Amino acid sequence: MTTTVLDDIGLLVTNDPTAGEGALGIVHNASVVFEGERIVSIGPAGQVADQRIDAGGRCVIPGFVDSHTHLVFAGDRGDEFAARMAGRPYEAGGIKVSVAATRVAGDDELTRLTAARRDEARRAGITTVEIKSGYGLDAHHEARCLHVAEGFTHDTTFLGAHVVPAEFEGRADDYVHHVCTDMLAAAAPHARWIDAFCEVGAFDADQCRAVLTAGRNVGLGLRLHANQLGFGPGVQLAVEMGCASADHCTYLTDDDIAALAASDTVATFLPATDFSTRQPYPDARRAIDAGVKVALATNCNPGSSYTTSMSFCIALAVRDMHMTPEEALLAATLGGARALRRTDVGHLTVGARADLVVLDAPSYTHLVYRPGVPLIALTIERGA
Ligand code: NIG
Repeated sequence: MTTTVLDDIGLLVTNDPTAGEGALGIVHNASVVFEGERIVSIGPAGQVADQRIDAGGRCVIPGFVDSHTHLVFAGDRGDEFAARMAGRPYEAGGIKVSVAATRVAGDDELTRLTAARRDEARRAGITTVEIKSGYGLDAHHEARCLHVAEGFTHDTTFLGAHVVPAEFEGRADDYVHHVCTDMLAAAAPHARWIDAFCEVGAFDADQCRAVLTAGRNVGLGLRLHANQLGFGPGVQLAVEMGCASADHCTYLTDDDIAALAASDTVATFLPATDFSTRQPYPDARRAIDAGVKVALATNCNPGSSYTTSMSFCIALAVRDMHMTPEEALLAATLGGARALRRTDVGHLTVGARADLVVLDAPSYTHLVYRPGVPLIALTIERGA
């Protein structure tokens, strides 16, 4: 098999503290050799291989791991965003607008739309992505959306419990039963994870517990949308159920933070959502200082966060959530991998997937220092 060397790396972030300086495992003047989709060697600049890519003395980081997206949808909600900027609050009910548009879109159109968003994310340095369903909301359309998603990722998530669809209006418990039975049966063959939206206006703790339990019974891993729009039971439920991740965590009590810190559940922050919905940002500093494991993700979706820019999320995390640039970069790479229970991505070590991003900058700090500037010079995903 052909070997390739990414050479003349000025500053290499490995995320392996045993390989270099600090928590990011920084190595200066380095090169990385990969064969197929795996890294086979990390060493000083000048290692030899069949092919050579010149990083030109710039900074190289692990590809971003985006552990929370809703990439499969049709339609546009730009008007809803504009109305929000004019003062209207964000409401979970907007999801139904995307459901209507997604149900009438053909398979080819949904695949084309998802491929375009996945390509956009790759150009933004995202090399691993989780994709949720949640805009189908019946057995046929949820399975269809997950089938599209599995063409783009191994980490597909069944989110039938996103909101109660119009045909079940006023019958939330009946809908939850449907999610746990017919919909789950149709979705499970296409899903690795199950998720639910635990929030006023979506599903309560008992309903979410029923959904997660049903998913666990058929072998799916668990994740939960928790504490996005207000304080509530989501985070405690995520910990109780052993979810891999509690996502959003915008409103955290001291008890929520203590529960997360004592658990393996990753708190996944989605600051582009708080930006786009004019919400407060999560208190990441308080969570990290208490020992909570954290991740950053884009939450790319048509309603609350229509962005594929992890660089933007990192900038928000540093500027408004008081994370250091090192913590934010770790959260967007290794943190995302932990939230997906993946050990093959999120770090650059021998045997890991060859997912590398060359920044048009001497240091990762520029992701924050130069906000809004496209600094992703090259994305290498699976060695290609
Ligand atoms: O993560 N919170 C629920 N789901 C999405 C929003 C989806 C939408 O508004 O379409 C989120 O923010």
